[in-house]
Amino acid sequence: MMDSHFRGTLWTTLILLTLPHLTCNMPCPGGCLCKSNEVLCVGDTITDIPKQMSDHTYTLRLDRTNMNIINEQSLANKKLLLRFSLTRSRLHTIHPRAFHVAPQLKSVKLSSNDLSAFPARVFSPLTTLEELYLDRNQLENIAPDMFEGLVGLLKLDLSYNRVSSLASHVFYGLTNLTFLNLGRNSIKKLPPTIFHDLTNLGMLMIYNNELEVLEAGIFDELVNLVVLKIHQNQITSLPPQVFWSLRNLENLTLSSNKLQTIPEKSFYNMPKLIQLTIYKNPLLSLPDQLMGHMPDMTVFYLYYTNLTTVPGNVFANMSGLQKLNFNLNIKLRELPSDLFCCLPNLEQLSLESNDLHYLHPQLFSRLTTLGKLFLNDNKLQSLSDKIFQGLEQVFSVNLTNNSLKNLPGDIFLSNTVLSILTLSGNPWNCVCSISGIAKWIRHNEHVVLDRDDVICHSPTYQQLRTVGSLRDEELFCDGTTFRTFFSPPMPMKPFHTSEQTSAVASTTAMPTPRPATIQLATQQVTIQTNTPTAKPPALHTTIPPTTLQSPTTTLPNQEFLLITETPLSPTFHDTLVVERGPEFVHHNRLKGSVYVWFLPSDAALTGLLMFCHILLVAAGLFLILAAMFCMYRLNKTMDRLKVEFEHPPG
Ligand SMILES: *[C@@H]1O[C@H](CO)[C@@H](O)[C@H](O)[C@H]1NC(C)=O
Ligand SMILES: *[C@@H]1O[C@H](CO)[C@@H](O)[C@H](O)[C@H]1NC(C)=O
Ligand SMILES: *[C@@H]1O[C@H](CO)[C@@H](O)[C@H](O)[C@H]1NC(C)=O
Ligand SMILES: *[C@@H]1O[C@H](CO)[C@@H](O)[C@H](O)[C@H]1NC(C)=O
Ligand SMILES: *[C@@H]1O[C@H](CO)[C@@H](O)[C@H](O)[C@H]1NC(C)=O
Ligand SMILES: *[C@@H]1O[C@H](CO)[C@@H](O)[C@H](O)[C@H]1NC(C)=O
Repeated sequence: MMDSHFRGTLWTTLILLTLPHLTCNMPCPGGCLCKSNEVLCVGDTITDIPKQMSDHTYTLRLDRTNMNIINEQSLANKKLLLRFSLTRSRLHTIHPRAFHVAPQLKSVKLSSNDLSAFPARVFSPLTTLEELYLDRNQLENIAPDMFEGLVGLLKLDLSYNRVSSLASHVFYGLTNLTFLNLGRNSIKKLPPTIFHDLTNLGMLMIYNNELEVLEAGIFDELVNLVVLKIHQNQITSLPPQVFWSLRNLENLTLSSNKLQTIPEKSFYNMPKLIQLTIYKNPLLSLPDQLMGHMPDMTVFYLYYTNLTTVPGNVFANMSGLQKLNFNLNIKLRELPSDLFCCLPNLEQLSLESNDLHYLHPQLFSRLTTLGKLFLNDNKLQSLSDKIFQGLEQVFSVNLTNNSLKNLPGDIFLSNTVLSILTLSGNPWNCVCSISGIAKWIRHNEHVVLDRDDVICHSPTYQQLRTVGSLRDEELFCDGTTFRTFFSPPMPMKPFHTSEQTSAVASTTAMPTPRPATIQLATQQVTIQTNTPTAKPPALHTTIPPTTLQSPTTTLPNQEFLLITETPLSPTFHDTLVVERGPEFVHHNRLKGSVYVWFLPSDAALTGLLMFCHILLVAAGLFLILAAMFCMYRLNKTMDRLKVEFEHPPG
């Protein structure tokens, strides 16, 4: 009966479609817009579904209305209506038989209302319904039989509600469903068989919920799933092989969960994957075998984790990767040397804001297509001269904000297309050894974008100079600056500031156990110890001048001293006193050594310079006085001439 009637209306529909002009003179309800077979009613004045409208309305859309209720007869006499939407209208009640009068509906959209509950099986008459949008309401409980009978349903949207749990058979029978959105609810747990009938499902959204676990086997029947979004939950662990049936999956989002580890081989059997997000998880480690072949993955992000390192092959199966963002992992200290072995298409690599202290010289050697490399905001202290070898296409390198004191002069030798380089925010140590890179910067000024901020951090007498402005002769490469160092086997304590050191130096009168004096060339350096007198004082003399890398022969008149600070070690002194010492210039610590620099001070030269200075000042003063005197004389003469001119004698 029903069927033949329905078929009849379909025929009418077809005939009317081919003869559209016949429908033109139908009335359009007040407050609405009518356009061919569509009626759109917007505004507060709408309080019920319009009764008077064309019989041939297929689409009825009501938006921002004043409607709170759909009555038993609201949808009556609309035999051809296929799409009905009532949105943003504070709708809170639906009559239990509201849809009995319109079983032909294909799409029902009730988004953004105040619905908190539905009468039992209210949608069940809609056996041909294809789309049901119930998103952005106040739904808390979904009855287990709520979608019963909706065998033709293709799309179901329940997002932005307050659902906290779902019955295991709530989606049973929805075998044609292709899209299911459960996102932005408060779901804590999902039954393991809840999706088992959804064999045609292509998209499943469960993001922004409160899921803590995923049950084993929950996705097992979803062989057609293309998109699975489960980010922004509280998931702490994944069952092994939970994604293994998803052989058609292209997008999988797991970011912003609580995962500390991921089971071995979790991402195997997903050869079509193009997006995988696992960032923003407190990951502590990753298993040795994790990623199966995923050649279509072009972009991968792995940031905001607690990883300290990763297995060397973690990216090895992502052969199509073009962009890899492996950044903001604040505990990531080291990278395996073969980590980027197998990324023949990589164009952009971001390692910024990690905790990297060291990079293996071969780390990037196979990234022949890399264009952009971000290494900024790490703790890199030095780089091998080989590190960028092989990066033939790199045009942008960011080394900003590291702990670099120096770089090998030929480090960018093979990067012929390099055009953007930033080096600021590093404590450049402007001594002789920096001359190579200083020269390179000078010759490649246009490449170093922040060259004016690439500033010497030490030694003191070079501070605030830009590295690129340093000439070899200013770097004392002829040996006038030198360093001495010890490598104490102990961890270092914070070093005295130079003020402290000079304070000690000024109190040489304090009880000192036999200061030892080491005669070095013509100057004298006194080194003494603070250690309790119980310690054998013989220590003072155990530092033979030969342990100092002191070019004493080339520095006949230089003063220098050495500093050690190993309070626990009997081998070293912890206080250093300078008598008649040179001007203290700077110290620095690097890899357990303490470096001390002194400005070479030559008394004779200083005297000469001072003499010249005084001479110049005196000459200047004399010239000024002479000029003033001349002016005075000239003025006098002029006055006299003027007087003579105005009152000629006689
Ligand atoms: C489910 O979809 C198939 C084709 O994809 C169709 O043949 C079948 O009729 C649909 N089932 C229902 C109940 O609509
Ligand atoms: C799937 O991932 C691709 C690549 O990241 C992205 O462009 C696309 O929008 C994603 N699709 C969905 C539905 O999220
Ligand atoms: C790459 O994937 C294949 C199969 O998907 C797997 O056998 C292999 O172990 C994976 N390689 C790595 C390095 O994980
Ligand atoms: C991850 O690191 C953050 C920041 O250091 C810390 O607060 C958090 O407890 C760590 N998580 C785990 C699981 O270790
Ligand atoms: C390098 O990184 C810094 C952040 O440390 C950023 O401010 C700067 O813009 C970056 N430069 C380039 C060229 O990417
Ligand atoms: C450099 O890093 C520190 C933290 O390590 C940060 O506070 C600072 O803003 C960074 N500077 C730049 C220029 O990015």
